[in-house]
Amino acid sequence: MAYALVKTLHLLAVVVWLGGMFFAHFCLRPAAMALPPAQRVPLMAAALGRFFRAVAASIGLIFVSGGWMLWHVATNTHRTGAPFNMPLEWLVMTVLGVTMMLIFGHIRFALYKRLQRAVAAQDWPAGGEALVAIRGWVAINLAIGAVILLVVTMGTGN
Ligand code: HEM
Repeated sequence: MAYALVKTLHLLAVVVWLGGMFFAHFCLRPAAMALPPAQRVPLMAAALGRFFRAVAASIGLIFVSGGWMLWHVATNTHRTGAPFNMPLEWLVMTVLGVTMMLIFGHIRFALYKRLQRAVAAQDWPAGGEALVAIRGWVAINLAIGAVILLVVTMGTGN
């Protein structure tokens, strides 16, 4: 019961993160491109600022819930006397998941800060450059997230 609940929270947080990246990349940004930079850059900065707060919370939840599930299964397996061999798809999820988190750290604490500075200085070309960089890393994270989903849902070698 507790495991199912924690797994649901894990998945909800994943949905917020991946769904938000999909929306920002494929819907919000292309639509905002119709606006002049003086409107588009502050709009994107405000929208991304809200989204990144939700991502930070989601990452906390994904990390804690994922770690708890690993601990739970490992402890229960040890109790039976058997060794705990982490399934390959879980290992892939953990390694790629942590990679996504590090990339988010770069987006949030380097690129988004650059965007905020550009908005404060009303430097729209610099803001546009920061947005292009953010878009590239978001696309990479979205692709990694899709690979994780593929690996965990299809399993490996089945
Ligand atoms: C620190 C990073 C992560 C850890 C330690 C972790 C760990 C786990 C564990 C232990 C499970 C339970 C698997 C089961 O009971 O079958 C799980 C489920 C799942 N995780 Fe993660 N996870 C992490 C990050 C992610 C990320 C970033 C994604 C997606 C982009 C993701 C997607 C999923 C999905 C879709 C499931 C459900 C799999 C199923 O029921 O077959 N996880 N995770």
